[in-house]
Parts: sequence; C-alpha cells; structure tokens
Amino acid sequence: MEAIILAGGFGTRLRPFTYTRAKSLLPILNKPMVSYLITMLPKKVDKVILAVNYRRDQIEDYFENNDFGKEIIVNDEPKPLGTGGAVKFAEKHITGSFFVLNSDIICSLNLDDMIEFHEKKNAISTISLWPVENVSEFGVVDMKRDGNVVGFVEKPKSEDAPSDLINAGAYFLELKVLDYIVTGRLVSMEKEIFPRIIADTGKFFGFEFKGYWIDVGRIQSYIAVHKLLMKNQNLDYVQGNNCENNGKLTNSCIGDNVFIGNNSDVESSVVFDSAQIGKSVALNNCVIGENCKIGNHSNLKNTVVGDNEPIIEKTVLDNIIVWDQPVPKGYPKKQIGNVIGE
Ligand code: GDD
Ligand code: MG
Repeated sequence: MEAIILAGGFGTRLRPFTYTRAKSLLPILNKPMVSYLITMLPKKVDKVILAVNYRRDQIEDYFENNDFGKEIIVNDEPKPLGTGGAVKFAEKHITGSFFVLNSDIICSLNLDDMIEFHEKKNAISTISLWPVENVSEFGVVDMKRDGNVVGFVEKPKSEDAPSDLINAGAYFLELKVLDYIVTGRLVSMEKEIFPRIIADTGKFFGFEFKGYWIDVGRIQSYIAVHKLLMKNQNLDYVQGNNCENNGKLTNSCIGDNVFIGNNSDVESSVVFDSAQIGKSVALNNCVIGENCKIGNHSNLKNTVVGDNEPIIEKTVLDNIIVWDQPVPKGYPKKQIGNVIGE
C-alpha cells in the first residue's frame, strides 16, 4: 500500500526558518517533522511517495541517510502543482487504495482504524476530522450523523462555516479519485476535488478521532507542538547531544551543541543546533535559529531569531522576527495555494 506525503509547500508562515530549509525537515523535539508522519503510517504501507518541489535536495539527503524500513520515492514536481496536482503527479506509483497526508500535522490519529472505517462505509474518500474553535484557517465539513460528508469548504469565513469540524489533513482514497484530477496544472484537492467527489459519488466520509492534533503551520503552533509532545511524555525539557546548559530550561527544547550561560532562563522556547545563549538571558516563547549568538543580559519574548543572527548584549525584544539576510530567489512573498481569505 502507498502513502503520499504532501511536502512541497514553501512554509511561508514559518519564515525565516523555511528560507533555508524544507518545512517538513524543521525539527520537532530535534527530529524532522516528516519523520513523525512516516512513523505514523501503518505497517501495510510499504511505499511512501514524498511530493516535493521546494528544497527537494535536502529531503533527498535526509532519506538517503535515514532508513524507515519502507521504500521512499522523492517525487519532484517541476513546479508546485497544488495539493491535488501533486497527488496526480504521483499517480504512476499508486497501485490501489492509498493515503495522502499533509506533511505538517502532528496528531494521535490511528491510520489502521481509519482504513477499517473507510471499508465499513464503502467510501471513496475518507478524511480525518478534528474539532477547532476558529475554523477559518482550515477546510470545514458539513457532515451527517453517520459520517457522510455532504459539503466541504476550504477556509470559509467563520459565519459561513457549516460546522466546527475541520479537515485534519489525512485522507484515505480509492484509486478512482485520481480520475477527478487533471494532469499538469495547479489543482487544489480541497477546493476543487473534494467538492466534486461529494457531489458525484455521495461516498465521502469523515473520520473523527480522539487525542491530539496540531497543524504546525506557523511559529506559534511550532512552539505549541513542542510543549504538547513534552507534556505527553512528562518531560520538562528536551536537550540534544553535546550541550552545555548552565541555566534553567522549562517547557523548552534545545538542539545539539547548544550552550546556555549562567543564570539564563529558557521558557516555552525552541533553540536550534549550535546556538549560544549568553549569561543572564531570558527567553520566553521564542524560537532561536542555528548558530545564533544571544548576548548576555538580553531579554527576548515572543521573538523569532533566524539562523546565524547575532543579538548584542542587553537587547530587549518583544514580538519581533529578526532576519537580516537575503531572501532566497523564487521564494514567494506571501502564502500560495489554499490561502486564507482568497
Ligand atoms: N507537493 C506539493 N505541491 N505539496 C504542497 C503544495 C504543492 O504545490 N502546496 C501545498 N503542499 C503541501 C504543504 O507542504 C502541506 O504539507 C500540505 O500540502 C497542505 O498545505 P498547507 O499550505 O499547509 O495548507 P493549510 O495548512 O493552509 O491547509 C491544509 O491543511 C489544513 C489542516 O492542517 C488544508 O488541507 C486544510 O483543508 C486543512 O484543514
Ligand atoms: Mg498546513
């Protein structure tokens, strides 16, 4: 059985870290995001197709050096084809019912249970569902009691949303879904294909699950996913290899080769590899990039410091993104694809 992982987005809401990295390789508790998706797949999935374009070289490198016991195909789109176009582009690798996963979801969904549900309902498409308060950043379903989805609307205004149940970003699909997607152009699964399958077949079902779910799409949810996973594992903090920590870490994760000076206090923050945090530094709700140097006696709150950025002594920052380097060529200025409020 095959699974397609959609990993081609630019991750514009996770800038500046995605200027230099594929979003799906961003570390979560010091492991690339995509590794969580692969380990979530059922045993019977023996082939994984990574639908990529932006920074595909980094993704290829990662899988050359890390074995997950499954065949991994890095399927490089010549240009971003959207969530539907990327699935169609993987068609030649698909042999039967298959999974599609957004690469930026971290959740407790059991995909074996989802297959069972799909088969029981004799569905053509089953999508995972999660309830949220603010639905306007997501795809929202209109669903009957028995799980039959009768409407799907991507990123509606909250007053137009049919329910509080959103598309949690994992689908189990029959082969015939591929016939709905035209080849070679930008196609949105959520905007074009799901509504057509619902209208044409009536066999589109929603699968709700319990536990936890986070879309790691923006900096705040990136910090939140760290805190959630640490809480689930009863950990106060996570520390990589070869670190020297002379301060205090609370609800925080630091990468490899990180130095933290005396009397420093790191709270609800993520610090990437090789960062140097001086003494008497306070970090609260921050993400600090690779090789950053944070000067002594600095106080940073709700702040993002991009890779290699120096912060001089006694700096006070609140709600700032520090990034002073050129933006890579071809990187979009704003989010593309299923944009909110389009
Ligand atoms: N290969 C490829 N090509 N992948 C893409 C492309 C593309 O052109 N565009 C987006 N992706 C990937 C992204 O990397 C991500 O893993 C996934 O497709 C979804 O794109 P996002 O940009 O993250 O979408 P979103 O978060 O705004 O909304 C989606 O996820 C929500 C749940 O997290 C939608 O599926 C919503 O309906 C859903 O509720
Ligand atoms: Mg997303």
